[in-house]
Amino acid sequence: MNPIYFKVLQMVVCSTLVVSVAGAPNTCGKLDLKTDPFTCCTIPKLLDVAIVGSCFDKYPIDKEAADKGAGGMPKTECMSECILNSTGIYNRRGELDEKKLNSVFTDSLPQNSPWLSVVRSAIKVCGAKANKKDKEFEKAVADQKKTGGKGSPVCNPEASFLVDCIHTTVFSECPANLRTTSTDCDAIWKFLKNCPFSALRQ
Ligand SMILES: *[C@@H]1O[C@H](CO)[C@@H](O)[C@H](O)[C@H]1NC(C)=O
Repeated sequence: MNPIYFKVLQMVVCSTLVVSVAGAPNTCGKLDLKTDPFTCCTIPKLLDVAIVGSCFDKYPIDKEAADKGAGGMPKTECMSECILNSTGIYNRRGELDEKKLNSVFTDSLPQNSPWLSVVRSAIKVCGAKANKKDKEFEKAVADQKKTGGKGSPVCNPEASFLVDCIHTTVFSECPANLRTTSTDCDAIWKFLKNCPFSALRQ
């Protein structure tokens, strides 16, 4: 996996953690493993590395700022929004193009890839979840507009939600024959049945 993309994905996952951990079931305490989950399953690159790189340069994620809360989150959100804008998943009016969402995330996969059905299903699941959270996203945007100063960027958290959800779901559904079997990896798959990927990374 391309190191930059790898880092970005990890960062996206880590920063989203700040939000998602609050909603995780209590049984999802820290899983203290030395194993990097990505060694258990190498998921394919789903997004264009050049696009991810250029959006990352425009909206660098400052891990410390994200940890502190203030100011950190909108950057993750803007980075993801930048990715969805640049790929055309968000059209010029900022609306989600579902056809494009499907094609962008699957175009790089070969026709016979075992990941194709995994990715398609992740898009479906995550799209439905995002629809349900629509009001929540709208409210977050309204809040950013209110609290952010003039000129501070306002980005829809829907974008990071989708990017994170799709990667997490794809990882969780890693085909059995592509998984590394080890005690730690087995513990990770088990953990992911009930807990979010983000809880794993802390
Ligand atoms: C994405 O595109 C919309 C619509 O053109 C624009 O308003 C928004 O600022 C863009 N977001 C980013 C992060 O570039």
